[in-house]
Amino acid sequence: MDNATEPPADGNDRILVTGGTGTLGRLVFSRLRDAGRKVRVLSRRSREAGEGIQFVTGDLATGEGIEAAVEGAEIIVHCAGSSKGDEDKAQNLVRAASRAGAPHLVYISVVGADRIPVVSRVDRAMFGYFASKLAAERAVADSGLPWTTLRATQFHDLILTVARQMARLPVIPVPSGFRVQPVDADEVAARLAELALGTPSGLVPDMAGPKVYSAAGLLRGYLRASNKRRPIIPVWLPGKAARAFRAGANLAPGRAVGRRTWEEFIADRSVRQATARRARIKGRGRGAPRP
Ligand SMILES: NC(=O)c1ccc[n+]([C@@H]2O[C@H](COP(=O)([O-])OP(=O)(O)OC[C@H]3O[C@@H](n4cnc5c(N)ncnc54)[C@H](OP(=O)(O)O)[C@@H]3O)[C@@H](O)[C@H]2O)c1
Repeated sequence: MDNATEPPADGNDRILVTGGTGTLGRLVFSRLRDAGRKVRVLSRRSREAGEGIQFVTGDLATGEGIEAAVEGAEIIVHCAGSSKGDEDKAQNLVRAASRAGAPHLVYISVVGADRIPVVSRVDRAMFGYFASKLAAERAVADSGLPWTTLRATQFHDLILTVARQMARLPVIPVPSGFRVQPVDADEVAARLAELALGTPSGLVPDMAGPKVYSAAGLLRGYLRASNKRRPIIPVWLPGKAARAFRAGANLAPGRAVGRRTWEEFIADRSVRQATARRARIKGRGRGAPRP
């Protein structure tokens, strides 16, 4: 295998990023491309190739198209994921990758995957995601391939999506005692790219954002920033997984290595949205018939 930190001499792409069209994967792709690497991206939809990027169509849930995606890959950064079934996706990827060779498999998991017990039906209904991430981690670690896994806390983007959805409700239920430590997806992408171009390291230290917030406090901050008023109702969630959340199993205060805060993220987003709105209005003005 070539030295993984150097681009291959023939310039061919040997890095596959699954989920390279998603929030994190897109940023990982950019980082790798900026490092002079050509990247292959797996997506369920066929897409046009671009500068330094090639797309392969495949579905990790069914295994369709995966063989072609992993062929010749020396590094696979596995960022594809969804709320359900990540263990199956990881299994299918591991199986195909093992048949294709011995690529360095880099996986992104979630802080708390090993500490949030998903035992009852109630746990599974609300927190099954954590169990599937843990099972996916095991599939990677037991694959026989060289591997690296990073666990991160929730990305700012996810928190924003949830906050926006919640803000549509007239009254917002928030799990009582829940806290979050959001991290910037681009900082996680930088770390993943660094890990991908380094030597396989197994389970590396967690990556969490700079501050811990109460879920209710975070939501209040979002409502304030978007000039909305909604009553927030604390809701007590049953089950062992929820209890672990209240105890902070989803946090990594000792690993608060992220730098960008939620407040900075929100402020940047507001500026970007305002700029886009102004550009749209200006564009409309230009298209209007002249008097
Ligand atoms: N979001 C967070 O707060 C957070 C925190 C810690 C860890 N993580 C982990 O980080 C990873 C990326 O999260 P994200 O927020 O960037 O996700 P995202 O924006 O929802 O993107 C998901 C990506 O997965 C791909 N994908 C989904 N199902 C697939 C399938 N069956 N076959 C192939 N590709 C599939 C999608 O590609 P196409 O639609 O193009 O097929 C998309 O690019 C996930 O593994 C997630 O568990 C996320």
